[in-house]
Amino acid sequence: MKDKILHLLKENEDDFISGQLISEKLGVTRTAVWKYINMLKCEGYEIESVSKRGYRLRVSPDILTQEEINQKLNTKFIGKNIEYFESIDSTNTKAKELALKDACEGTIVIAEEQTMGRGRLGRTWSSPKYKGISMSIILRPEVDPLDVPKITQIGAAAVILTFKSLKIDTYVKWPNDIILNNKKLCGILTEMSGELNKVNYVVIGIGVNANIALEEFPEDIRDKATSVLRETQKKIVRKDLVSSILNNFEELYKAFESNGDVSRVIDICRKNSILIGKDVRIINPRYEKVGKVLNLDDSGELVVQMEDGSIEKIISGEVSVRGLNDYVS
Ligand code: BTN
Repeated sequence: MKDKILHLLKENEDDFISGQLISEKLGVTRTAVWKYINMLKCEGYEIESVSKRGYRLRVSPDILTQEEINQKLNTKFIGKNIEYFESIDSTNTKAKELALKDACEGTIVIAEEQTMGRGRLGRTWSSPKYKGISMSIILRPEVDPLDVPKITQIGAAAVILTFKSLKIDTYVKWPNDIILNNKKLCGILTEMSGELNKVNYVVIGIGVNANIALEEFPEDIRDKATSVLRETQKKIVRKDLVSSILNNFEELYKAFESNGDVSRVIDICRKNSILIGKDVRIINPRYEKVGKVLNLDDSGELVVQMEDGSIEKIISGEVSVRGLNDYVS
């Protein structure tokens, strides 16, 4: 009911709408309307109430609910169903749970805070309340499981495009980090369930450090991580960031899902790669090697010239940048 009242207020944003009309339209008492209005005020909505005129919505808060994200969302299926949490352990964990219960493709799990946010390789991800973006998208692509890592690149390209539209130049550190001024701004964690030749579901989790101040980062990552606020001294509207990322994501994902086309994605990741031309150390459970990144190939694999002159394509694994003072993985 609260959401329905909010919807009516938004439809009449510049005008007053009387308590009587709301109660008639929604079939609840005026006292109930008043109670829900107070609940909305507690959530940060500034609602003017004037006797004999009714209620008028003046300001909506920067929260990541469906109603707020809808304002600038123009997708067909990504984000049409948003599961919103003020606090949760991890949106990826929740998304996997929902995927097992048949949640439809495009469902988003989003939270204002994560208490056990997860990163790659068992790392943790810090998500202070109302400061960042922590969201996970549930996907059911009918593709070869070997192509699933491309979805991480789709996420990276979507984030890069969003920041470009805000005139902020960010870079991809293959395969899953987005870098701003040599520090990590965003991390992507893609998880999947599947069989040898069938994907059951994919969850792509995206964490963006939006309005996190320096002292709000855990001490041990302060020199490696950054936020939009830290780099621009301006707060960003998180809900607009979310809708923009989702809009970009859907467009790029549709091409991939329908005919496996990731050409635009790779083009974006290549043009905005922080690794191409750099010396890197490739670390995976089996070996550690040093080389120079030459390119990102058309399927999203990293082309590296090793110290012995051989050229290898890296499908996945941990890549850390050598010789870069400000950002070390
Ligand atoms: C990494 O940099 O290693 C990946 C970080 C991914 C963080 C996001 S936040 C939303 C989603 N939920 C999680 O628990 N992790 C991802």
